[in-house]
Amino acid sequence: MTTTTDLLSAQALQVTFPGRHGAGPARAVDGVDLDIRPGEIVALVGESGCGKTTLARSLLGLVPPASGQITFGGKPLDYGSRALKAYRKRVQLVLQDPSGSLNPRHTVYDAVAEGLRIHRYGGDEREAVTNALSRAGLRPPERFFLRYPHELSGGQRQRVVIAGALVLEPELIVADEPVASLDASVRGEILALLLRLRDELGLSALVVTHDLGLAWNIADRVAVMYLGRIVETGDVEQILTAPRHPYTQALLSVLPEAAGDPVVLTGEPPDPSKIPSGCRFHVRCQVLASGEAERAGVADACRTKDLPVLAGGGETQVACHWANAAAKAPA
Ligand SMILES: Nc1ncnc2c1ncn2[C@@H]1O[C@H](COP(=O)(O)OP(=O)(O)OP(=O)(O)O)[C@@H](O)[C@H]1O
Ligand code: SF4
Ligand SMILES: [Mg+2]
Repeated sequence: MTTTTDLLSAQALQVTFPGRHGAGPARAVDGVDLDIRPGEIVALVGESGCGKTTLARSLLGLVPPASGQITFGGKPLDYGSRALKAYRKRVQLVLQDPSGSLNPRHTVYDAVAEGLRIHRYGGDEREAVTNALSRAGLRPPERFFLRYPHELSGGQRQRVVIAGALVLEPELIVADEPVASLDASVRGEILALLLRLRDELGLSALVVTHDLGLAWNIADRVAVMYLGRIVETGDVEQILTAPRHPYTQALLSVLPEAAGDPVVLTGEPPDPSKIPSGCRFHVRCQVLASGEAERAGVADACRTKDLPVLAGGGETQVACHWANAAAKAPA
């Protein structure tokens, strides 16, 4: 449900791709509600192929939804080219691989100024570029103006990409795996930068990651995605200390800091052109496989009854018959 306080909101969003090799259409995003509020960092987490990038691109207006709606500042997204251009000034994309996002023949100055030129910025370009580099932690900024991407470290390149997003003073950054290609030592620095931008500029961010541990370090809220749907969402601390969905539990169990045995998921890797009936996770679910769902009296529901789309708001929610039955059971 959209509220007046939401900055970006998706309602019942569906994105499909034509099927390959005679398969049915791939429902890469299959009914997602997601709200992002001003000054909030939301982590979108899930394994490879679950639809994170497709959802992120759709939120940016880069992939039109098959159905559902996106609103920004309470207004439905307008897909007209001028309106989209104005929207992409307010919502900036930061990609995983800084080398791929930067033109090797452009200096740092030109890379950061590019967005200003595209949007015909009327102010002082040099001042805007200087401020953006400084905010992205490249100081003194002038020292970087004439450098080329190959003369920078991976962390510095990612900071240049972030500066290129910041220069347009966006309200929201959508960062798709922003630190996945970086060494562990610089990951923390880039995450700290995103936190500082939230605190100092009130910047919101949707951070896409396959790493729940990363979400722990950065996000206010987390949305766990499985096969095109959000299966658990809420306050990061609550979800990560007391996960209720078996899929979230499995993801957490393989983190280095996890106590207990890792949960190895069985079954075929998920395929969005063949979404199982019932709970979409049931063919891989360790709680169903172990008989626990049977003992809780929900095994039939697991196999046959789909779960409702979770609302996108702040409250902690889970799409699981077993977790819901446990919540209702007398203590
Ligand atoms: N242009 C496309 N045409 C057809 N299918 C696509 C297209 N883009 C993505 N898909 C499919 O949609 C599903 C979701 O892909 P997506 O890239 O959104 O996943 P992801 O969660 O970002 O994965 P990763 O963690 O590997 O980046 C995958 O099954 C993928 O094969
Ligand atoms: S609904 Fe059933 S199959 Fe699905 S995650 Fe919950 S316990 Fe597992
Ligand atoms: Mg992706």
